[in-house]
This record gives sequence, structure tokens and C-alpha cells, in this order.
Amino acid sequence: MNVLIAPSILSADFGKLAEAVALAERAGADLIHIDVMDGHFVPNLTIGPPVVAALRKATRLPLDVHLMVEDPRALVPLFHEAGADWISLHVEATAHLHKDLSLIRSLGRKAGVALNPGTPVHLLDEVLGELDYILVMSVDPGWGGQSFIPSSLEKIRGLRDRIRARGLDIPIEVDGGLKIDNVGPVIEAGMEIIVAGSAVFEAPDPAGAVRELKRIAAMYNG
Ligand code: DX5
Ligand code: ZN
Repeated sequence: MNVLIAPSILSADFGKLAEAVALAERAGADLIHIDVMDGHFVPNLTIGPPVVAALRKATRLPLDVHLMVEDPRALVPLFHEAGADWISLHVEATAHLHKDLSLIRSLGRKAGVALNPGTPVHLLDEVLGELDYILVMSVDPGWGGQSFIPSSLEKIRGLRDRIRARGLDIPIEVDGGLKIDNVGPVIEAGMEIIVAGSAVFEAPDPAGAVRELKRIAAMYNG
């Protein structure tokens, strides 16, 4: 098991994003999670390719771009050009999942699929061989600072079992409501990538919060 930490800059000060990613990198983050919302797939509106291109210059960490948008296929090339390393799109947003994952992989990026809390994991059965990671939303997407939905634990376990039954090794990223005091059981359920927004950037000591998450992850790594 190799548990990674992906601070989500959604809860950072948008006037100081370069400083936020530099702080996360120095504290030992493994990825920078960037939430892209288009005002349609979710009501909120956040970050576009120019900001990702600016962040590309501010850190050497992989940029993990989570597309919460209605038309992901149209935007994938723009985020690829901006320097996104990992790109996930929502299964609820596309009728052409196989084609869209192939597009991301053909650009040399890691391809991920995100699932809303109400979306069953079996929808991924036919594309498990075509993706590099799965993002399980443990809150309804749109905002940071929401509470972890407890039934996500069972969902993550079920997904992990499905992946293993196929003899595959696909990391599960979990996003929403993760805090220092609740990540343990989620890792035990199968999470290998921890997205943490408010738990990091709204903490009195954001670097300390990243280090604490790393310390917890290290207990499971080996
Ligand atoms: C929510 C976003 C998350 C968000 C998580 O739609 O996808 O990445 O930043 O925020 P926290 O960790 O505060 O729940
Ligand atoms: Zn996210």
C-alpha cells in the first residue's frame, strides 16, 4: 500500500495560490488537487486552464485536476496543455467514458474517473482496464468543508474488492470531508490517495496538517 496526500487548493487563499502549493510541497504533499467547476455540472465556478498553467510553474508536484464539468472531453486538451498530470472526469458527465479515458491516456496523462456519492461503482466495470485511478466523492461535489458521508466507507470497500477480484491494482482517491481524525478507517477501507482541502488550508498550521496526514499515511505504507 502506498498512501498519498493530495491537498485541495479549493480551500486555499485564491490570492496566494502559488504560496499555498509551495507550502504543501515543502510539507511533503505528493500531489496538488485542483477542483475545476463550471457552474453547470455543479453550481460553483472555480479554476480554468490559465490558473493551472500558472500553478504548473509554482510547483514540481504532479497536478491532479478534478473536472466537475458538463463537457469534460472539450476541456481535457486545454488542461493537458496547461500542464495537468492527472485528469479525472465524472462518469455522470459523459456518455462516452471509454473514449474520454482513451483521450486522456493518448495525451500521456493519468486518466481517472470520479463518482458522485449516489453513483454505483459497478458503472466502472467495463472500463477498469482503461483507467489509472478512481476518485470516490465522499461529499456531493461543489464546495469544500462538507461532512464525510458515512456510507462512503462501504462503497470504497466494495470498489476495492471489485478491483482486486479482477486482479488489478488501481488506486482509489477519496475526496470530501476527510480530516486528520477520520482518515484511518477510510485508508483501511481502501483509500490510497487522500484529498484534503479544509483540513489543510483552514487549519491554523497548514504545513503541520500535511505533515500529520503524512504521518498517518506512513503507518499504513510499506
Ligand atoms: C468538492 C471538491 C473537493 C474539496 C474537498 O467538490 O471536489 O476536492 O476541495 O474539500 P474538503 O476536504 O474541505 O471536504
Ligand atoms: Zn476534488
